[in-house]
Amino acid sequence: MSLKLGQITTVVISSSTIAKKVLKYQDQAFSTRFIPNAVQAHNHYKYSVAWLPVCPQWRTLKRILNTNIFSSNRLDANQHLRSQKVKELLAYCAKCSQEGKALDVGQVVFKTNLNLLSNTLFSKDLADPFSDSKLELNDVTSSIMTDAGKSNLVDFFPILEKFDPQEIMKKAQAVLAEIIGKGKPIEETNICKLPYLQFIIKETLRIHPQAPFLVPCKVEQDVELCNYIVPKGSMVLVNVWAIGRDSTFWKDPLVFKPDRFMSLEVDVRGKDFELIPFSAGRRICIGLSLALRMIPLMLGSILNSFN
Ligand code: HEM
Repeated sequence: MSLKLGQITTVVISSSTIAKKVLKYQDQAFSTRFIPNAVQAHNHYKYSVAWLPVCPQWRTLKRILNTNIFSSNRLDANQHLRSQKVKELLAYCAKCSQEGKALDVGQVVFKTNLNLLSNTLFSKDLADPFSDSKLELNDVTSSIMTDAGKSNLVDFFPILEKFDPQEIMKKAQAVLAEIIGKGKPIEETNICKLPYLQFIIKETLRIHPQAPFLVPCKVEQDVELCNYIVPKGSMVLVNVWAIGRDSTFWKDPLVFKPDRFMSLEVDVRGKDFELIPFSAGRRICIGLSLALRMIPLMLGSILNSFN
């Protein structure tokens, strides 16, 4: 589909077959970012792995990140830092529960997420998830966090048609109790033993991808794609949201049904274009391996201790 958004020709890709062409076979032509005005303000985009085009500087940054932060060895070596943050989260939830105090799950989970990340990157907390006082981060970050935090753990049991969130939760809890032991936090080494938890996460990322259009790219030359010309300067969006709900591939696409993955060999790591919440190809999310540790760690640990 082609749209004119103001002056900008915008091409929206909504099928997994064409997404595969864009992200895999012709990815060179589609790997430069469309940089929104707001991001250009302090020139950070000129130094950021997320915004740089594919160039030697981007390759160097990516190599440094992959070797020093996101490799399995490095993530294994600092998993105790993330484990500690999850224990603190559980202790806080337990305290609120004992005191009969309401808990904004989205917000504490979001802030814990931030600390899992900052401990992995800098061995340091960035937020105090458990204080009622204003965050020590500035107001801008705080409001981003508040907005982003609203849809968080809640998203893992979205309210859609024809399914019973209680039933899915109970099933997940039964497996956790059996494999981990009720009430215990999950360790990263346990994740591979918990396929049902992983199904819940995949199903959530299918229905609620965090970047529903991925990161927009800009084509720098006219590009031929499936017998059409995508004109130079166009913005290209890959509609992962629609691909995840495509009824030609997904049976009952609007039903939240983690069990579908029992008989479906589809993963989120960029090989199966029907499910690409982290994108695919050379610009695939560099934090994928960390994200796939952090999400089950938090979701599983909370489910294993609370209803
Ligand atoms: C559920 C969690 C996450 C999701 C769904 C996600 C998704 C994505 C997506 C869709 C992109 C754009 C890929 C493209 O343009 O085609 C991306 C890029 C990126 N992500 Fe993530 N991400 C997640 C977590 C993380 C984490 C935890 C980190 C790092 C700590 C991270 C770091 C990055 C970076 C640096 C890029 C830019 C890569 C590049 O441009 O070469 N992400 N992510």
